Amino acid sequence: MRTTAGPVGSRPVGERVHLTRAGPPGTLPGMATQTIGAVSFRQVGPCLAAEVDGLDLTRPLSPDEVAAVHAGMDRYAVLVFHDQPLTDEQQLAFTRSLGAIEHAIGTGLREQYRLPTTFADVSNLDVNNQVFARDSRTRLFSLGNRLWHSDSSFKVVPAKYSLLHARVIPSKGGNTEFADMRAGYDALDQETKDRVADLICEHSQLYSRSLLGFTDFTDEERERFKPVRQVLVRTHPGHRRKSLYLSSHARGIVGWPVPEARAFLRDLNEIATQREFVYSHRWRVGDLVMWDNRQTMHRARPFPEHEPRDVRRTTLMGDGPTTAQVAAA
Ligand code: OGA
Ligand code: MN
Repeated sequence: MRTTAGPVGSRPVGERVHLTRAGPPGTLPGMATQTIGAVSFRQVGPCLAAEVDGLDLTRPLSPDEVAAVHAGMDRYAVLVFHDQPLTDEQQLAFTRSLGAIEHAIGTGLREQYRLPTTFADVSNLDVNNQVFARDSRTRLFSLGNRLWHSDSSFKVVPAKYSLLHARVIPSKGGNTEFADMRAGYDALDQETKDRVADLICEHSQLYSRSLLGFTDFTDEERERFKPVRQVLVRTHPGHRRKSLYLSSHARGIVGWPVPEARAFLRDLNEIATQREFVYSHRWRVGDLVMWDNRQTMHRARPFPEHEPRDVRRTTLMGDGPTTAQVAAA
């Protein structure tokens, strides 16, 4: 069957693409299934996100399979792998087969780590596997994940991919939502595209937490979370499409008055996170969801706070800074 080009740019040579007419439940008519080698991608979101079939992530992948995963990530930006009963070691091995790991040390307020620092512990569980108390600082800080963000945009070298694996999920709620920042960029009018082209933002976790009223930081934490600079528009090295590089950590634009910058960033966020550009992932135990932080934002949704939610993230390090760093005032 002939198709037109997919919604997410051009296809690498050698891919077979066909349209699914009568897909599985939840598949919208006309949504594409794409096959790269033995790996198939079934689009599940509006312009991003695909479910992947044909890979067992508990086993080492072949170089062709690794290449297929990267190609799928370039195109869909979010990949969903169901029924993957991974141990920590298997999650790490799969992550490392895709690139170098970013360690999660000193990025949150955990006093004792439940998991090795090769993992970002995104759970609501303390070192004894107990749900944090409602007023726990660690918990309140981590509620920042409920704001749209891109992982580690507060680091000089921000994250490339994040891989989140569900071990225990609550009885309801707790979805993770993903917004397509390529679609966000494309939706801007030409005047705004010209305006954002060369802008540099400052990102800090102090700012994203302050948006929720969390401001009681120690001097050590203020030093640790001091702002870094990031470009506002990124060009993806794979397909060369542009994305808005937004995140709740973005507290201002270099050279702009603060209120004007924040009002402008709010407008951009509103455009980039409109429902037409969002995939909402409803978790099942054993799901591994992987996203490209260079072309998406994501946020956690609420769930009953007394229930455990054990989700564990491994993260791939980015290639380098997005812009030169200058000591912030
Ligand atoms: C993350 C994150 C959202 C969630 O793992 O980086 O933001 O739903 N997670 O837990
Ligand atoms: Mn995150």
